[in-house]
Amino acid sequence: MTISQINENALKELKATRSVDDINALSVKYLGRKGALTLFLRNISNLPPAERPEAGKMANQVKKALETLFEEATAKFESVGQGMEDIIDVSLPGRTAQPGSLHPITQITGQVCDIFTRLGFNVAEGPEIESDYYNFEALNIPKNHPARDMQDTFYISENVVLRTHTSPMQVRFMEKHDPPVRIIAPGKVYRCDSDLTHTPMFHQVEGLLVDEGVSFGDLKGILTTFIHQMFDEEISLRFRPSFFPFTEPSAEVDILCVMCRGKGCRVCSQTGWLEVLGAGMVHPAVFENVKFDTSKFTGFAFGMGIERIAMLKYGIDDIRKYFDNDFRFLRQF
Ligand code: FA5
Repeated sequence: MTISQINENALKELKATRSVDDINALSVKYLGRKGALTLFLRNISNLPPAERPEAGKMANQVKKALETLFEEATAKFESVGQGMEDIIDVSLPGRTAQPGSLHPITQITGQVCDIFTRLGFNVAEGPEIESDYYNFEALNIPKNHPARDMQDTFYISENVVLRTHTSPMQVRFMEKHDPPVRIIAPGKVYRCDSDLTHTPMFHQVEGLLVDEGVSFGDLKGILTTFIHQMFDEEISLRFRPSFFPFTEPSAEVDILCVMCRGKGCRVCSQTGWLEVLGAGMVHPAVFENVKFDTSKFTGFAFGMGIERIAMLKYGIDDIRKYFDNDFRFLRQF
């Protein structure tokens, strides 16, 4: 092999190196004791005398040049830590971006609001930290009255609470707006409650409609339409007499259990029915607190638990799953 062939081969192989180890191997191959260049230098004495000086000069130049190139390449690989193969592994699959999505409770709240806005309701919002007056007293629940036991309350001070329901929005809205009123009020509420179907923080959507000549029939019509649109047209529902201090008469609405279709299961406590909301005709005492003319106006109100609706819609039997923030659960929605 001539000295220029040796040089060309060495340069070609240098280009293909990827690590300090590759350079060391190349150095041994060309400049080591048995390396191609070393052998060439050793054999110069076998050349015709006239060729020896030129060949020796060229071989030394190539040797020096290769030594410098090898040193530079080693320094380059060392400066980036390891060899290039440790930095870029082109065989790895690409990293895909994980797009976020709306929390299932936010999705259900949106669906509930969509249905009611299509029925002509406007959306109103109010504070989560509420005065005792709006949360209880203005809703016909006086201080020290046994009706307060219905909602186990977080008190911030004697007269300030974390709202236990969205019903204070009825009073807040009617104080500022004359009838007719047609609103829904979604939001977070808080109670000292915790089990399979109750969490200390949950979401409600309040509804209020006040006008001349509003009857219990209107309440039934609106809520039946809502349930049919939220679940399906075929689902059976029933209005069951109940009690709330701020409505008279009052009712609770049950739907046929979506898990067992009325046969009775763990989720519906073997009754075949599931409660989804409370409702009733606005109590005259509430109208008096906001100075609405009770001889002219009547109205109905309702309040539903969003988590309860979401559990039925998605077939989830433990409400706490919505707040564990386990991605394996949340990614399904
Ligand atoms: C009320 O909160 C009334 N304000 C509803 C109302 C409004 C009645 C207007 C009449 C007129 P109740 O305490 O039943 O009612 O709660 C309503 C719904 O909230 C329940 O049907 C249930 O779905 C849900 N809920 C109650 N407590 C919890 C809790 N700790 N965790 C999750 N959901 C709950």
